[in-house]
Amino acid sequence: MQAQHLLALLAPGEPLSGERLAEQAGVTRAAIWKQIQALRSRGVPIEARGAAGYRLPWPLQMLDAKRIRAAVPAASRKRLGELEVHWELDSTSSELQRRGSGAADLSVVIAETQSAGRGRRGRTWLSPPGLNLYLSCLKRFDGGFAALSGLSLAVGVVLLRALKSLGIDEAGLKWPNDVLARGGKLAGILVELSGEYQGPCAAVIGIGLNLRLTEALRDQAGQPTCDLATLAPGELPDRNRVAAALITALAEGLTQFEREGFAGFVDDYAARDLLKEVPLRVQGAQGTLEGLGAGVDERGALLVQAADGLHRIDSADVSVRRA
Ligand code: BTN
Repeated sequence: MQAQHLLALLAPGEPLSGERLAEQAGVTRAAIWKQIQALRSRGVPIEARGAAGYRLPWPLQMLDAKRIRAAVPAASRKRLGELEVHWELDSTSSELQRRGSGAADLSVVIAETQSAGRGRRGRTWLSPPGLNLYLSCLKRFDGGFAALSGLSLAVGVVLLRALKSLGIDEAGLKWPNDVLARGGKLAGILVELSGEYQGPCAAVIGIGLNLRLTEALRDQAGQPTCDLATLAPGELPDRNRVAAALITALAEGLTQFEREGFAGFVDDYAARDLLKEVPLRVQGAQGTLEGLGAGVDERGALLVQAADGLHRIDSADVSVRRA
């Protein structure tokens, strides 16, 4: 018995006794207990309801590559490379990087859980199974690294477009590419480049989107958070539909970026820029800068109006906070 099979049995959200679970899975009750504990220790909030048995506090849909692919409109679907769903990977982005030149353009790798999910600036991205979405997409480009400036900001815009297609329109962007809603982090984006400085190169775009956070996860996050379950009017959309919306927006948006660069995204970014006219403190290797957020330039650099003039911050390796 493996943890993913147990999660699939509990996915409808109905209580099931240890006995029924053991019967359905064809294993002993001790084996069920072991996997219940394993899922709980990974952050899945399985409740014990006395004689009724075990249950999840809400129904969930297991991610399924076929269902995701079928929900992507044909025009975007034909641009995609591989589309894989794994139960567990160290990191979906590391997996695509390991494939190297073996992976086709616009290949997508998704995992139900990551054992070593990576965030920006060396941070860990907590990745419990069944709750959120962990997805990476490989995009190849011909024009060298210079043509890729602003890519990670453009991906933020792409993510907002995907959310809008799901009826969720209240998220904004914190430079360079945090997606925030109601003051908390809704999604994180990690763009990693490889290849030749002036020739063919590739971007692995990793996205972690919070669909349903538990109290424990919120506590561990170490910063204010938000999830789609809080924002979705009515019921949270099927996780496969959310993945399909994201993949559709990526297929369209990354093709647009290839054609137009960040210039094609500047207006959309400005419309959702949460730092504009906000007093900021920017801390990095060069020291600390204080000033007023003044938007982003056509290459995606953050503009900060300080007492001594306008500054351009183009390294994402800084911390930007409200002053
Ligand atoms: C951030 O720190 O805000 C970026 C978080 C990016 C997390 C995603 S989850 C899918 C992909 N795989 C990873 O290991 N990281 C990214």
